[in-house]
Amino acid sequence: MQIVEPGSESNNRHVGLLILGAGWTSTFLIPLLTREGIKYAATTTDGRDGTIHFRFDPESRDSAPFKTLPSADTVLITFPLRGQGQSKHLVRMYESTHQISEQYKPNFVQLGATSIWTEPTWHDENSPYDRTNVRAIAEDELIEFSQGAVLNLAGLYGASRQPRDWVDRVIKSKAELKAKGALHVIHGEDVARAIVALHRNFTPGKRWLLSDMHVYDWWDLAQDWAIQTLQGVKSGDLKVPVDKFQRQEELLVWVSELMVEEGVRALPRDTSSVGRALDGRGFWQKMGILPTQGRIR
Ligand SMILES: NC(=O)c1ccc[n+]([C@@H]2O[C@H](COP(=O)([O-])OP(=O)(O)OC[C@H]3O[C@@H](n4cnc5c(N)ncnc54)[C@H](OP(=O)(O)O)[C@@H]3O)[C@@H](O)[C@H]2O)c1
Repeated sequence: MQIVEPGSESNNRHVGLLILGAGWTSTFLIPLLTREGIKYAATTTDGRDGTIHFRFDPESRDSAPFKTLPSADTVLITFPLRGQGQSKHLVRMYESTHQISEQYKPNFVQLGATSIWTEPTWHDENSPYDRTNVRAIAEDELIEFSQGAVLNLAGLYGASRQPRDWVDRVIKSKAELKAKGALHVIHGEDVARAIVALHRNFTPGKRWLLSDMHVYDWWDLAQDWAIQTLQGVKSGDLKVPVDKFQRQEELLVWVSELMVEEGVRALPRDTSSVGRALDGRGFWQKMGILPTQGRIR
């Protein structure tokens, strides 16, 4: 990892990408930047692991934290900005503490979520979204004020985050399973590739929808994973507590009952019947690349 010590001379060095908030996404992004030879600097709120100590406080006019940040071609904001004023404030503070000129003006990229698209229909990057959503308000401000770009991400997975581990949290009853339509995800490696692509081929003032271009059916996934777990236990490859074993059997019963009750002939359900569906083709087409990870298991 390229280390930029807080307050050191190296902070004044120009980097290609400045990551404001090196959290989970950066565990994929930083190795890619290293492989691609892109100079970067990264921040965390506590300055751990040689990152720059930086916490954005929307109420503070203190320019000192911004002065510790290097100038960059692209400034990636990974943490949520909310409501009106925060995006403008961050951009103003950064620009006022760096020498902005005709030749040098950074491109800002904000990571957002696809939950701003709420209607039970198809959505792509140009579809109407919930403009009252506090994150969407801040993203719109970044787009308008600094011609920034926004990557609205589907559910993040990879390494420690595996969709099959989400089942227990999101499906606690048959009613909850019934309500579950589509799942949309994007692997951390593809998020990293998308950020690098946008860094190299910046699209000013553009909102993108980032997914792995699949529409997964929660009923199909729940059934598949339950069967895999039960088979693993029966073959002796897997050990799970009794209640977890019983839960898999329960999930299988719920899925089969719901299929009869709801007139679903086969799984996965038709995309038109799973509600909200995301069309993520636009970004990949624009960048001339494709996601490398699909078919979650
Ligand atoms: N989880 C999902 O499935 C999902 C889906 C779609 C979109 N998203 C969005 O995608 C983005 C990236 O997700 P992620 O999982 O990589 O996030 P993450 O792991 O929570 O990382 C966020 C980073 O921002 C830093 N940070 C937080 N508040 C800050 C502040 N006020 N000032 C400066 N830095 C701050 C954190 O610092 P520390 O490391 O010191 O805490 C951390 O490094 C987030 O905006 C998230 O909401 C997530």
